[in-house]
Amino acid sequence: MIKALRGWFANDISIDLGCANTLIYVCGQGIVLNEPSIVAIRYTEDNSAYDIVAVGDDAKKMLGRTPENMETVRPFYNGRIVDWPLAEKMLKHFLEKMINAAWIKPRSRIVVCVPGDTSAEERRTIKDTIKSVTRVKEVYLVEAPIAAAMGAGLPIHEATASMLIDIGGSTTDITVMSLNGIVLSTSLKVGSDHFHYSIIDYFKRNYQCLVGEATAEQIKIEMGTAFPLEEVTELSVRGRHMGHGIPVSFVVNSNEIIEALEPVLSLIIHGIHSVLEKTPPELAADISKVGMDLVGGGSLLRNIDLYIKEELGISAKLAKDPLTCVARGAAMILEKSLQKSKKVSVATQEQVENA
Ligand SMILES: Nc1ncnc2c1ncn2[C@@H]1O[C@H](COP(=O)(O)OP(=O)(O)OP(=O)(O)O)[C@@H](O)[C@H]1O
Ligand SMILES: [Mg+2]
Repeated sequence: MIKALRGWFANDISIDLGCANTLIYVCGQGIVLNEPSIVAIRYTEDNSAYDIVAVGDDAKKMLGRTPENMETVRPFYNGRIVDWPLAEKMLKHFLEKMINAAWIKPRSRIVVCVPGDTSAEERRTIKDTIKSVTRVKEVYLVEAPIAAAMGAGLPIHEATASMLIDIGGSTTDITVMSLNGIVLSTSLKVGSDHFHYSIIDYFKRNYQCLVGEATAEQIKIEMGTAFPLEEVTELSVRGRHMGHGIPVSFVVNSNEIIEALEPVLSLIIHGIHSVLEKTPPELAADISKVGMDLVGGGSLLRNIDLYIKEELGISAKLAKDPLTCVARGAAMILEKSLQKSKKVSVATQEQVENA
């Protein structure tokens, strides 16, 4: 019944095609899809072809658990498309889910944010794929930093600078915005995935033990911190000893995790520092006054705001619901600025790239 009713209305949709997670937001409804951007494939016997075994949540469960003839792949990485045929299949899979649930109708309008380093041609290809799968005519691309800033509630229309740090899975995007435009931006090839890769390296060096990516990510989320906690916490970790090859367990504490994360945190601080150095003085003064804003999954690392303040002397504030800022902000742009009956605001007219 609800699905049938949904079918009567043409929803406005935003898609955040992230390297780590894909989110789909329906205006007036909220996030209706939030799945890892991962595909699991099985190779044929002669390795000449493959079949898709799972996509999204189901594929992530297989991470580090696949037999020899299978693999889990991230079709987007480091802000780029690394495997378009797989990315296309993943995108189609998510879109078909939305069509089957009657969230997307041919009269819907769709706005999409793509990984930052995709070329103009790749962006066009993504847009064409969405159009052909959904039969939606109005598909727009929007810059992820502008969408994230809208979702985080930053005053990007004002004559004051906003600095946004989006710590995603494999990239950290640092953007300075003012008067509706991007003044400066840079994309570091380091993100929250590198925190857990660093944890894996740390265990190899200090415990001669191998742990899987899923375990390392769980440790990062459960006890990761950028700054010492009031109370040191401990966790028992299971892995495989590199020498004996047998499963072992050992206890790590939160201070060891800080030590493991430090090299990645330093790269992020260095990146922010470089952008600040290039920021025009008036805007830099604004930023030092109002601070910077953090979005993306990596900003959920405990005390990362305190770490930034300590290292750079500028306050950093975590946005509300930082994992969904891009999808929510893109939907806001669609709702507010693409309504033909309304005057299109200069901000989004500049940022939205029409079909
Ligand atoms: N509590 C947490 N602490 C640290 N990292 C976290 C936490 N929760 C999620 N993450 C990490 O956030 C990352 C995903 O963030 P996000 O969804 O913003 O990335 P993305 O936008 O898909 O990636 P990209 O920006 O590289 O395209 C993953 O590395 C995940 O492990
Ligand atoms: Mg992102």
